[in-house]
Amino acid sequence: MVEKFKIQGGETLKGEVSVGGAKNSVLKLLAAAVLVKGSTKIYNVPNLTDVEIMLNVISELGAKCIYDKKEKSVVIDSTNLSSITARYELVSKMRASFIVLGALISRCKEAIVALPGGCAIGERRVDFHIKGLEALGAKIKIENGYVHAKASKLTGTDIYLDIPSVGATENLMLAAVLAEGSTRIQNAAQEPEIVDLANFLNTIGADVTGAGTSEIIINGVTQDKLHSAEYTTIPDRIEAGTFMAAVVATKGKAIIKNVYPAHLTFFNDKLIKMGASIKLVEPTTIEVSCKNRLSSINFVTQPYPGFPTDLQAIAMTLLTTANGVGIITESLYENRFMQVPDLRRMGADIHQDRNHAIVKGVKNLTGAIVAASDLRAGAALVIAGLMANGETIVEKLHHIDRGYEDFEAKLRSLGGKIYRYDESNTNEDKINDNFNSIQSSQIIKGGF
Ligand code: EPU
Repeated sequence: MVEKFKIQGGETLKGEVSVGGAKNSVLKLLAAAVLVKGSTKIYNVPNLTDVEIMLNVISELGAKCIYDKKEKSVVIDSTNLSSITARYELVSKMRASFIVLGALISRCKEAIVALPGGCAIGERRVDFHIKGLEALGAKIKIENGYVHAKASKLTGTDIYLDIPSVGATENLMLAAVLAEGSTRIQNAAQEPEIVDLANFLNTIGADVTGAGTSEIIINGVTQDKLHSAEYTTIPDRIEAGTFMAAVVATKGKAIIKNVYPAHLTFFNDKLIKMGASIKLVEPTTIEVSCKNRLSSINFVTQPYPGFPTDLQAIAMTLLTTANGVGIITESLYENRFMQVPDLRRMGADIHQDRNHAIVKGVKNLTGAIVAASDLRAGAALVIAGLMANGETIVEKLHHIDRGYEDFEAKLRSLGGKIYRYDESNTNEDKINDNFNSIQSSQIIKGGF
């Protein structure tokens, strides 16, 4: 199958949409569940390819996983583990699987986990993960592309991270759960997903304090203190920000449910400065709207609570037609402007110099054939397609499917003209005047 999105731009998004569970949280909760000799039930688990990969990773360790797609819950029975190895074939598909290293070394005192290697958006090293584990007492060998970590015991200690790395903070939190004594992670990442992981760990019987600040303390507990539990994942702040941007981009007005506005303070502030209106309807429901052409802003991506790098490409799309010039500085990744060439093909005026992008707002974008180069760049191009005059085709949807559940269905429920079709299916039935180059037999998951 060669799946693509076809988008007819120019529709104003209106209505109501609900945000799912946070991908970047749930992946870590699934790995953390492996710590328990028992059964854990996690709710608000989105149906994403990344979740599927993590379920495969922990299943190969011996955990029995049942995903109820309707209830959006997963039961993980990790009473008995049968393996300490996470294979390259899986880890290379999704870097986040590297997080099982912390859980395995904690529980089994040994782990063999493939090194994830680089990725399209940047080098994404794991040196802080490794140094932190060594500080806890693990002996680490890197051989044949795998990290082999072993410890007769892990002992709590002070660990200072050079950068508040999300993944390193999480891996070290997991490793420290069953260590002897106290571990203090300084310059820890403060993302809401870190707080969610700490809350989950405390729910299963661990002792973690300080998550959400730059200093996290994990008081080691013994294995018998960890127990079965149920837990609900926080909403996905990046998915929420994506829908907010899509509504604002099309000068629409919509209710977005299942959002924690406090997780998006910086992004919300920038949207308001651009001219959007954001009203709190209920504690987890907001109304987003925009009537006029947006005004340009400057922003720098930073670790939480700064402007999220995962919303950078999406915000860049908003700047492409805003009034004035906006300067974006990407400070987390070396190569996260991959959407730029495709946005230019749609008529955007963007000058890129290393990690800076200068975006001069044009009157409008025009539809084109574009391709997702990573998850967030893909979402940015979908929004560009919704804004543009005419028709846009977005290719390489597998990137988008990693992190947005039912993306096109949710956008369609807001009035967006977008659907997924399979180019390799060439049956002759035409579907409608606007899309007469696409045949109904090619459409996947519904038309308009
Ligand atoms: N870094 C190192 N050494 C390390 C660890 C990180 O140099 O040992 C560098 C990285 O190369 C990067 C920076 O530190 O330049 C930040 O990386 P971090 O470890 O914080 O990111 P991550 O844990 O690999 C998570 C999210 C990313 C998100 C970043 C930053 C998951 C699965 N991924 O990645 O999400 O961009 O935090 O917020 O949680 C996405 O969802 O599209 C995505 C890429």
